[in-house]
Amino acid sequence: MKNFYLTTAIDYANGSPHLGHAYEKILADVIARTKRLSGTKTKFVTGLDEHGQKVQQGAEAEGIAPLTRCDRIAEEFKEMLQKLGISHDDYIRTTEDRHKRVVCELLQNLYDAGDIYQDDYEGFYSTRAEQFLQEKDKVDGEWPEIFGEVTRIREKNYFFKLSKYQEWLIEHIQNTEGFILPEFRKSQVLEFLKEPLNDLCISRPAERLSWGIPLPFDPEYVTYVWFDALVNYVTAAGYGTDEFEENWPADVHVIGKDILAPPHAVYWPIMLQASNLALPRQILAHGWWTTSGAKMSKSTGETVSPLALADQYGADAFRFFVMREMTVGQDAEFSLERFSSRYKGELGNDLGNLVSRLIHMCHQYFDGIAPEQELQEDLEKNLQTRWNEACSKTLEHFNSFQFQLGLEETVGFVRAINKYADERAPWKLAKSDTAQDQKALATSLATMLEGLRLANELLAPVMPGTHAKICQCLGQEPAEIWSGRLDWGERLARVELGQKMILFPRD
Ligand code: MSP
Repeated sequence: MKNFYLTTAIDYANGSPHLGHAYEKILADVIARTKRLSGTKTKFVTGLDEHGQKVQQGAEAEGIAPLTRCDRIAEEFKEMLQKLGISHDDYIRTTEDRHKRVVCELLQNLYDAGDIYQDDYEGFYSTRAEQFLQEKDKVDGEWPEIFGEVTRIREKNYFFKLSKYQEWLIEHIQNTEGFILPEFRKSQVLEFLKEPLNDLCISRPAERLSWGIPLPFDPEYVTYVWFDALVNYVTAAGYGTDEFEENWPADVHVIGKDILAPPHAVYWPIMLQASNLALPRQILAHGWWTTSGAKMSKSTGETVSPLALADQYGADAFRFFVMREMTVGQDAEFSLERFSSRYKGELGNDLGNLVSRLIHMCHQYFDGIAPEQELQEDLEKNLQTRWNEACSKTLEHFNSFQFQLGLEETVGFVRAINKYADERAPWKLAKSDTAQDQKALATSLATMLEGLRLANELLAPVMPGTHAKICQCLGQEPAEIWSGRLDWGERLARVELGQKMILFPRD
């Protein structure tokens, strides 16, 4: 059976990880975990993009070899993944031999097929953007700041025939529903494709840039950036080995909106089509985290260290925040106030308090053994109906990558359990010794335990650590697959519960 194969962008090895990188990996991780919990075999890959001028220059400035610098940055990124609880199955680095082999094989095939050719290039070049420029890139007759120093150069280079595939690509995008997500990005890509495509320059002379992959048909040149980086997706899928069929085509490439068009929505499908490889099923482009409206990036200096936040509040609170706060595809503004308000409100008050007071009452009134539900009145029936709705809506939203809406449903259900608790008021029932009140007391705690057990199932992909802790409180094993665990039923009756925990402490 084919794996659900999903990837993230591979991060540039030219700086430390920040919130933008962290968010994307969490988003992909939540998708991967949701798939696994739904019983789908999944392969999830992320990695590092290591070649290029900036990496070479960064290493020169430090007086070390580029690979030494990349090794250090790879460690930093891997540490971030580990701290954030990312469950990737593979970490691909573009300096690995397995990757260079695949890049060379694809390049050679395209060269032999006549889709890569050599030509003279004369024009403007921006070292900062590592990009050839055209007059149309000027704004009011000037080169915009982002290009830094622009020089005129003339050199021979290798080009990939993008233009030959333009009409085919337009048709593919128009006819393939869900290929580009969110939907509104599709029209932006089609808009981009209205202009004739220039063929893509895929090489640099090795004397100018040595930190790339030598072209198999001309070692005087190297390839780097897109032709190198995009290929990581097929390398990690096991191109050239038996495993490839189990993984390819990719089910989802998770990327940021800045690298949708042209790289992922234009270069990549054309590279695959020209190489006779199947196209990915979906490309999911998320938005940017901004601070004061500007994209958070290394060059603006406005970055939030995901590790510092995760260290302070725990990885799960951080994961919950980014998934709850950002509408996938749109930008979101990061602020510590927003973080703190979600932390105190939805995590601390709604979920954390429910867990601690419920487990406390179970120990106080039933010696830590989950009671049985002895009554089935409107209050219980209503909560169960509420669960059925919340569960199906959450799953629907999760499956369409709308995690913020899914979490809203789940949190809404947690609030419904708290409301139920206020209505039944077990702390009052406990003071009465009539048989009816004792039944109501057992029922109220049993119902709340069942509600919490279920809500906790839906939190598993987003907060795996918290899920496991709540399972411990409930005397349960954490979920590996959901099968059957999402149905309302008396799964906890007579179970020995764990000790109460403070899940989201106030600082
Ligand atoms: N190396 C390329 C990707 C090659 S994929 C074959 C690259 N690297 S990057 O480090 O600049 O960005 C990695 C990912 O992080 C991209 O998907 C990018 O959109 C995302 N983010 C970087 N900054 C971001 C924010 N401020 N907010 C959200 N995500 C952004 O591009």
